[in-house]
Amino acid sequence: MSLLPSLLFVLMVTMAAAGPLCPGFYSQTCPQAEAIVRDVMRKAMATEPRSVASVMRFQFHDCFVNGCDASLLLDDTPSMLGEKLALSNINSLRSFEVVDEIKEALEKACPGVVSCADIIIMAARDAVALTGGPDWEVRLGRRDSLTASQEQSSNIMPSPRTNASSLIDLFSKYNLSVQDLVALSGSHSIGEARCFSIMFRLYNQSGLGKPDPAIDPGFRATLDKLCPLDVDQNVTGALDATSRLFDNQYFKDLVAGRGFLNSDQTLFTFPQTREYVTLFSNDENEFFKAFVEGMLKLGELQSGQPGEIRTNCRKVNSQAVDV
Ligand code: HEM
Ligand SMILES: *[C@@H]1O[C@H](CO)[C@@H](O)[C@H](O)[C@H]1NC(C)=O
Ligand SMILES: *[C@@H]1O[C@H](CO)[C@@H](O)[C@H](O)[C@H]1NC(C)=O
Ligand SMILES: *[C@@H]1O[C@H](CO)[C@@H](O)[C@H](O)[C@H]1NC(C)=O
Ligand SMILES: *[C@@H]1O[C@H](CO)[C@@H](O)[C@H](O)[C@H]1NC(C)=O
Repeated sequence: MSLLPSLLFVLMVTMAAAGPLCPGFYSQTCPQAEAIVRDVMRKAMATEPRSVASVMRFQFHDCFVNGCDASLLLDDTPSMLGEKLALSNINSLRSFEVVDEIKEALEKACPGVVSCADIIIMAARDAVALTGGPDWEVRLGRRDSLTASQEQSSNIMPSPRTNASSLIDLFSKYNLSVQDLVALSGSHSIGEARCFSIMFRLYNQSGLGKPDPAIDPGFRATLDKLCPLDVDQNVTGALDATSRLFDNQYFKDLVAGRGFLNSDQTLFTFPQTREYVTLFSNDENEFFKAFVEGMLKLGELQSGQPGEIRTNCRKVNSQAVDV
């Protein structure tokens, strides 16, 4: 009887919504946290260079769906369809095992302290820093969600066919500006995409059996060879000409009509976004500055829902607790 109120109190404290985020959130409770994350990311990159790009993408797919709460990392359960199989994620998101390794190392050093949501934010920053991009201080203190929504992820995350004006509308719902949209799209400076994501561009852009006229003819020949009509659509190509280096080559490629995805190339063909593409293609420092600003804003998105520090990023701590 008398235990009940204090048990409820403990539950309420451990499941509180995150407070304001701040730099050095773990400086007392897990001072090695950031070094541990970077170390695992460095090893992952040595083992498989693309993996750091794949992990970096998690920040976008996590934060746009109910805030940065690691809902993305939850596996399906009999009673909950997770986000991993949502439209934009299925057969596409990868390298979840790198986050598992980071979590394991952190649980060894400071059990129960560092959230999976913060791991995504630190690891995304590290992916950029390790591939030659800017390095910056991240704000931490996020908590991990108790649930996930496949339906919301499928409804929210943009397809590779999306044009710049739709992307502007989508990003504005998160208070992200046109500059944020263009700078954040510059994360496609690293990583790869599947033929599946560009078949329509190459062979049926507007339903007329023709390719996207914005593709440079030489580049289109390259893409046609990578992704012929009968290709295994899981085959991948580089998102820019220097896909292991975080640099402004992505924007130079867009200016030259050599963007990989329709959503990339449209940033140059649409006047609302073109000036930023031109600016970033000419000035890498401007790109890096705007990119860091965009990542910080993206990382601030929060659901306000109760959360916890998961022990295993793939599962909530206690499936049975009914709050
Ligand atoms: C602006 C709207 C965006 C669209 C439409 C978009 C779409 C895509 C698509 C279709 C792929 C390839 C998927 C596949 O073929 O399997 C991809 C890859 C990627 N995206 Fe985006 N994306 C966008 C913004 C972002 C943002 C904001 C970030 C990060 C902050 C990001 C990071 C990445 C990375 C790093 C990859 C490569 C992943 C890998 O190699 O595994 N994207 N994106
Ligand atoms: C952009 O895409 C939206 C949604 O598909 C469409 O309604 C709109 O007409 C397109 N805008 C332009 C200028 O092509
Ligand atoms: C965007 O900004 C407005 C006004 O400051 C705020 O009310 C709203 O909650 C913000 N939206 C998001 C998704 O952060
Ligand atoms: C191209 O798209 C149109 C409209 O969606 C469709 O009717 C047609 O069958 C497609 N053609 C090919 C070759 O896929
Ligand atoms: C890609 O591979 C997955 C499993 O590895 C398969 O289920 C899927 O159908 C393939 N996708 C395409 C577009 O071929």
